[in-house]
Amino acid sequence: MSTFHKILMVVSNIANSISYIYHIPDIVSYQFDFWKEATEQKLDGGISLVLDLGCGSTLPLTIISGTHYRTVGIDKTSIYWIPLRIRSSPLNAINTPIFDLNPIKVILRILERILNLSATIRYYRKFKKLGFNNDKLKNIHICRMDVSNLAFKSRVFDLIISKAAFEHFEDIQRATEELNRVLKNDGRAFIGVHLFSSLSGGHDTFIYAWDTPKKFKNVWRHLIDKSWSPPLYLNRLRLQDYVNIFQKYFIIEKIKKNPEPCSYFLTEEIYAQLSDYTKEELITREVYFSLKKKGSGSIYAG
Ligand SMILES: C[S@@+](CC[C@H](N)C(=O)[O-])C[C@H]1O[C@@H](n2cnc3c(N)ncnc32)[C@H](O)[C@@H]1O
Repeated sequence: MSTFHKILMVVSNIANSISYIYHIPDIVSYQFDFWKEATEQKLDGGISLVLDLGCGSTLPLTIISGTHYRTVGIDKTSIYWIPLRIRSSPLNAINTPIFDLNPIKVILRILERILNLSATIRYYRKFKKLGFNNDKLKNIHICRMDVSNLAFKSRVFDLIISKAAFEHFEDIQRATEELNRVLKNDGRAFIGVHLFSSLSGGHDTFIYAWDTPKKFKNVWRHLIDKSWSPPLYLNRLRLQDYVNIFQKYFIIEKIKKNPEPCSYFLTEEIYAQLSDYTKEELITREVYFSLKKKGSGSIYAG
């Protein structure tokens, strides 16, 4: 990577972090809807135990779904858990060393701390407005665990949720087998994936930001440019791949598609380079799957 490219990456990461902080209240509201929809799937026997696969930082949102649930979140890394850590003391958010022999790294780490801290403060302010308080966090348990090898007994969870994580799982077949194993026979799963084929599916910093800039070159670069490499691991699955894998174990009761407001980028010239994909795949950001185990009854009327 050239020095220019490195500088560009740092600048774009900072810009993205600032945009993230600015949009935290929107993100919380948006996630709130996600959890609400997941838990509104009324289960015959009620919900008592919820599992979140690849929970990342947004686990506190699960509390919003109701304090009577016991919620378990698993994630293979804990670096995203800052909002949870800060609940006991803001200093807990700052638990990696700042000092380094390289002064640039020190400056970047300090900047990162400031950004993380302001994001967390805004995050909690929004939670408070939604009626959230620290007591409700008591129903949450988080564990560092790989989705491919869940340390839970079989058929224990009533509801399994996952958001923006399946596209990062390396062995999706194995993850789905584990999901099926730990879900109760009458349980439900609500899985949201960020589609790789979407405009933001490559997770490139600028395009991934909450506000997609109206003027942006290199759109769908992750699908067009063979030399493109992702900023973090992405399995590159398409909508039909998820459908095929989920259908092996589950009945897909519902598929909900969240569009990305980006059709203005999909000119005839661009689409000519993307003809392997349907237009819908290119302008759908997330897809939510409502899954039930094969052989169990429907939860939907009609
Ligand atoms: C984009 S984050 C999404 C986090 C959270 N669900 C949210 O909506 O903000 C994806 C998460 O998946 C986790 N992850 C990736 N591969 C995993 C694996 N094999 N097992 C468990 N977690 C994994 C990452 O550590 C990361 O926290």
